Amino acid sequence: MKYINDFIISRSERLNDRYQLLTLTSQEILPLQEARPGQFVQVKIDRSSSTFLRRPISIHDIDSEANTMTLLVARAGKGTDTLCSMPEGEVVNIMWPLGNTFSLPEEPDANVLLAGGGVGVAPLLYFSKILASRGIKPSILLAARSAGDLLRVDEFRKYGDVHLSTDDGSAGEKGLITANSAFSATRDHVYTCGPMPMMKAIAHSCGERGIDCEVSLENVMACGVGACLCCVEKTVKGNRCVCTEGPVFNIKELTW
Ligand code: FES
Repeated sequence: MKYINDFIISRSERLNDRYQLLTLTSQEILPLQEARPGQFVQVKIDRSSSTFLRRPISIHDIDSEANTMTLLVARAGKGTDTLCSMPEGEVVNIMWPLGNTFSLPEEPDANVLLAGGGVGVAPLLYFSKILASRGIKPSILLAARSAGDLLRVDEFRKYGDVHLSTDDGSAGEKGLITANSAFSATRDHVYTCGPMPMMKAIAHSCGERGIDCEVSLENVMACGVGACLCCVEKTVKGNRCVCTEGPVFNIKELTW
């Protein structure tokens, strides 16, 4: 079931010069618990004269008791710049929830790693919260260029064991995410979202080691509902729309 609702920006917090954290609430009680980890929303940005299309943004967190949804937004152009600059109290129209979800592990004691880079950490927070609520404490590996670029580290610590990886060694282990000791450890499942080279390196390593792995793709999207075909990804079963048949894919489905 998809919904289209107006949300009020109840909090807009600048995390650094690239990222903004938006807390959205609705005047009606919405079934926010229907949104699952890995899904995304399409935000209509009315104030920008050049952004007629909605912008796809991952669901970062849901608090159904507080009736809030949180989005972690990267400033990546006019549309997201406008969104990040909107004052608290402004209303945005949102189509939600869209896309498929990360698969929950079937084993109650699964050894799970969530690996995120850049704004790719966004869908992993809600996933780590859901895993923790089911008694699975995930290992969470967050990667960035340097310490100042790491996002939401303390929030992730509420739900799992957090490991850090930075290019310059200013926080956690220095080097690529795939060189981190948390990544080299044996796992039952790895879930990842981030820059394409990072996800491909993770997918190849997991494939070689026989580890079940899901990736959340960030292909360019326009309509978000399977109509424009601009988000197509080649898979072993033919072309698939990332917006409706993704964004989450098991690496066995991909032709990487
Ligand atoms: Fe239009 Fe996927 S974004 S088909």
